[in-house]
Amino acid sequence: MFKQDLSGLEQQHLLRRLTIVDSYDGPRVVINGKSILLMCSNDYLGLAGHPALRDAARIAMDQYGFGAGGSRLVSGTSALHHELEQRLAAFKGTEAALVFNSGYAANTGIIPAIAQKGDVILSDCRNHASIVDGCRLSKAERTVYRHNDMNHVEYILKESRDARLKLIVTDGVFSMDGDIAPLPELALLAEKYGAILMVDDAHGTGVLGKTGKGTVEHFGLSRGVHIQMGTLGKALGSFGAYVAGNRDLIDFLVNHARSFIYSTALPPSVCAASIAAIDLVEKEPMHREKLWRNRERFVSGLTSLGFNIGDSVTPIVPILIGDSEQACKAGDKLIEYGVYATAIRPPTVRPGTARIRATVTASHSDQDIDAALDMFGRLKQKDYL
Ligand SMILES: Cc1ncc(COP(=O)(O)O)c(C=O)c1O
Repeated sequence: MFKQDLSGLEQQHLLRRLTIVDSYDGPRVVINGKSILLMCSNDYLGLAGHPALRDAARIAMDQYGFGAGGSRLVSGTSALHHELEQRLAAFKGTEAALVFNSGYAANTGIIPAIAQKGDVILSDCRNHASIVDGCRLSKAERTVYRHNDMNHVEYILKESRDARLKLIVTDGVFSMDGDIAPLPELALLAEKYGAILMVDDAHGTGVLGKTGKGTVEHFGLSRGVHIQMGTLGKALGSFGAYVAGNRDLIDFLVNHARSFIYSTALPPSVCAASIAAIDLVEKEPMHREKLWRNRERFVSGLTSLGFNIGDSVTPIVPILIGDSEQACKAGDKLIEYGVYATAIRPPTVRPGTARIRATVTASHSDQDIDAALDMFGRLKQKDYL
């Protein structure tokens, strides 16, 4: 059965394989003994290898050892978990915050805890798989609205007037397209129809907004987004995730989010690294500024080469191809030329929209970006892209 499934996937050019990275050094990685340029990482600010994170983790390990040794409600809440939650709440400007073991665990814990039988969830059709799975775990009625389509959201809200609770959930930055959810409009609709609005800011945290606080700050919203979830493993260069909101929400999740309750806590050293990363985001805006300069250089180069990057307005830059086989060939050729930017195929993206999902980070130099553009251009000339 497994073999049959795998050969079916292979025939459709949908088989996934792991690529082993032998070492990471800023924007370069070694794969199969060859040093190549990394253009698909979510380490947007280049903090994953930053000495401040390494030092913080090392010091915490000396003090606490490595594993947390228990779940958060038993023995696993260290002073560093507590400090991280306080720092996240202050960073996000909310009453409280709660750390989860990953973004996947956060979404699959938060959504079913909040939306129960008799409730309605409205989820954007391009939301991340962890939101989709969170919705699947919920006993609420699940509806999916067309991407960023506010008329569709309003239509469903009107149809759901009698629901006990309505939860609208959206990515802040869409992970495969690099476009942004219209939070002000969603917040207005949520208010008009008495719904709760939840944003997953996995790719907005540290990246968007004047001080890197994310999509809510990007739009200058001071209220109207009730639940802000985000991850620590992308721009913050660490690992784990958080939810920020009011005190009651956080206490409710401590009592009801199963992925929080029934799982061993993050190692304290990981929390220490996340705290160090928040320090850097707050004190060193140059990482974010460099990220955005790099993004502009990359996108203007791609545009002048004639690439279609869809609606991307962030450091996530999809190069749309369509056909999965073609996307795989392009990804393989890119590695051969010295750029690591993976092909993304269904079911991660919609059928017929396979792509190379390229990202830029603050650790790329101008020369790196120009070299990548040169290789993308060569592939285009040879009709791979
Ligand atoms: C929008 C979004 N939400 C959640 C997640 C899951 O986060 P984590 O990798 O911490 O499990 C991701 C990860 O890719 C994501 O892109």
